[in-house]
Amino acid sequence: MALAVLAAAAPPLNSGAANDAKLEAYGRHLARECTSCHRVDGIDTGIPSIVGWPPDMFVTTMKFYREGSRTNPVMVSVASSLTDEQLKALAAFFATVPKPAPKAAPPTQIKTRK
Ligand code: HEC
Repeated sequence: MALAVLAAAAPPLNSGAANDAKLEAYGRHLARECTSCHRVDGIDTGIPSIVGWPPDMFVTTMKFYREGSRTNPVMVSVASSLTDEQLKALAAFFATVPKPAPKAAPPTQIKTRK
């Protein structure tokens, strides 16, 4: 599990690591507009977690708000204020933020009959 996550996060060869770093830094800056609502630790307290998403899924979802197929007024307004480049930067940054560890499963109750 941990290995799979690491492998998925490793940049492919020749990905232009310097550009990626710039984009992420820009996204980190822009993310301040988001983290008053969306928690950076990825814990959902009524507002969904947006960390650790594949970047293309992130961008597509933001475009749903911008283009009206998702209608949440707050997010429509947030998404409409962002350019494609800014969406890419936010996607790149939030993709690097680790998801929270899954909640520990409740201990199995082993009932022994007496
Ligand atoms: C004022 C609070 C607020 C702010 C600020 C905000 N969001 Fe949201 N966001 C929400 C709420 C509430 C939802 C759930 C909306 C819905 O049900 O469609 C949401 C949903 C989302 C979703 C879809 C989540 C899912 O699981 O489908 C994404 C992606 C997202 N926001 C990204 C962002 C980004 C990026 C920013 C900053 C640029 C941002 N949000 C700023 C409140 C906020």
